[in-house]
Amino acid sequence: VHWTAEEKAAITSVWAKVNVEQDGHDALTRLLVVYPWTQRYFSSFGNLSNVTAISGNAKVKAHGKKVLTAVGGAIQHLDNVKKHLADLSKSHALKLHVDPENFKRLGEVLVIVLASKLGSAFTPQVQAAWEKFIHVLVAALSHGYF
Ligand code: HEM
Repeated sequence: VHWTAEEKAAITSVWAKVNVEQDGHDALTRLLVVYPWTQRYFSSFGNLSNVTAISGNAKVKAHGKKVLTAVGGAIQHLDNVKKHLADLSKSHALKLHVDPENFKRLGEVLVIVLASKLGSAFTPQVQAAWEKFIHVLVAALSHGYF
């Protein structure tokens, strides 16, 4: 993947504003509410029966932070995302059995969380760079399935 200097700047400057705990919680909550079938992977998390339960669930919060911390790690390795996420991809494929279509969904809700957080600073160019990054992220996480 080739990144222009502008794309890298768009990705890292947005990331500098991210709060992995709060924004991770928001993104995972959205995933579980908007795509309720994703709840099946988190049966050990307890009550996910409605929006209030999901957004108040401490395990959802802790896990959202973990997921966004991993996204931050990928941003620190933009030139080598596939290799950086190889083990995580393998564990989602072989141990967690997550349908890789769900990576796209998480990417989509993350973009929405960032857009609503940044407002007008999330310009079309910034969104374009993020969509490209999400594509690279999803491809890297899906790589261990093949
Ligand atoms: C675990 C990252 C997408 C389901 C994890 C862990 C990380 C992570 C860092 C912890 C792994 C460990 O402790 O060894 C990510 C990233 C994603 C992503 C970066 C996409 C951007 C998804 C999706 C699902 C999912 C879409 C399901 C819909 C799980 C489950 C666990 C897990 C069930 C184990 C949770 C537990 O029992 O603690 N993920 N994940 N992940 N992930 Fe993902």
